[in-house]
Amino acid sequence: MSGTLVLDAVTREYAANAGFWGRKTSFRAVDGVSLSVAPGETLGIVGESGSGKSTLGRLAAGIEAVSSGKVLFDGQPYAPVGSRDWRRQRRLVQVIFQNPSGVIDPRLAIGRQIDEALATHEALDRHARDRRVADMLDLVGLGSLGDRYPTQLSGGQLQRAVIARALIMRPEMVICDEAVSALDVSVQAQIINLLMDLREKLGLTMLFISHDLGVIRHISRKVAVMHRGKVVESGDVETLYSNPRHDYTRALLAAIPVGSPAERRKRDTAQRTAAPVAQASSLVQA
Ligand SMILES: Nc1ncnc2c1ncn2[C@@H]1O[C@H](COP(=O)(O)OP(=O)(O)OP(=O)(O)O)[C@@H](O)[C@H]1O
Ligand SMILES: [Mg+2]
Repeated sequence: MSGTLVLDAVTREYAANAGFWGRKTSFRAVDGVSLSVAPGETLGIVGESGSGKSTLGRLAAGIEAVSSGKVLFDGQPYAPVGSRDWRRQRRLVQVIFQNPSGVIDPRLAIGRQIDEALATHEALDRHARDRRVADMLDLVGLGSLGDRYPTQLSGGQLQRAVIARALIMRPEMVICDEAVSALDVSVQAQIINLLMDLREKLGLTMLFISHDLGVIRHISRKVAVMHRGKVVESGDVETLYSNPRHDYTRALLAAIPVGSPAERRKRDTAQRTAAPVAQASSLVQA
């Protein structure tokens, strides 16, 4: 079925600094991760900085090849990076990153940029392309702003443009890597709502990467917790929220700013039943 992601014992090694006597060493940024996401499902990935979330996202999207293990999208491994088959597969899995300025060209109106992305992937005539771009701008709530330049847009509007540029490819799956982390809290909520709306309308499978379990809880029912390249806990987000099994998950929970008294009670109860974890917040801010 279309939009299925399966990771089987996936490992990605990088060269580390030369060790003692200049010996070459390597470390595992992702270490034996197995998980699967069914069509139309969303899986949250949470973990501290450096735990391997973005690396996992790049492997899942086929941007980078695994060192060992298997990544299957729609039952197929990715073709060699750069090949024609690989480009066709890559279109089906789009990645939405945190920082729009790194993705969006400041010299081009956003409608043009969405159009260019489309033109590189599909041979459509001008008219058909204009229609697709206009429809997409409507879909992300930027209806009349296609002629605006990036500097003329707010952070939230820019992120909408980034989403439009990813979705114009008609992907089956979207990997959001800290897609709302740079935004103000109120804007975060708008973009999360937009993503949930689009996921529904377009039947998207989603991997939602964030260091913030509070954000993940809004958009995903399932979550995997990463720590030093490994998935240390996974399951239903509410279960994990009220009954974290792993010390590291408790530490992540303790670092979430808690809004309502009811939520605070829930968190404190969860913590009382668990061994305390030292320096909880520093784990997340590291
Ligand atoms: N291309 C690379 N070459 C060498 N090391 C890398 C490379 N990419 C990532 N790493 C290292 O792999 C580890 C995991 O990095 P990664 O970016 O996946 O973490 P992350 O969980 O996304 O962190 P953050 O929350 O800060 O975005 C880090 O130690 C990082 O320095
Ligand atoms: Mg990252």
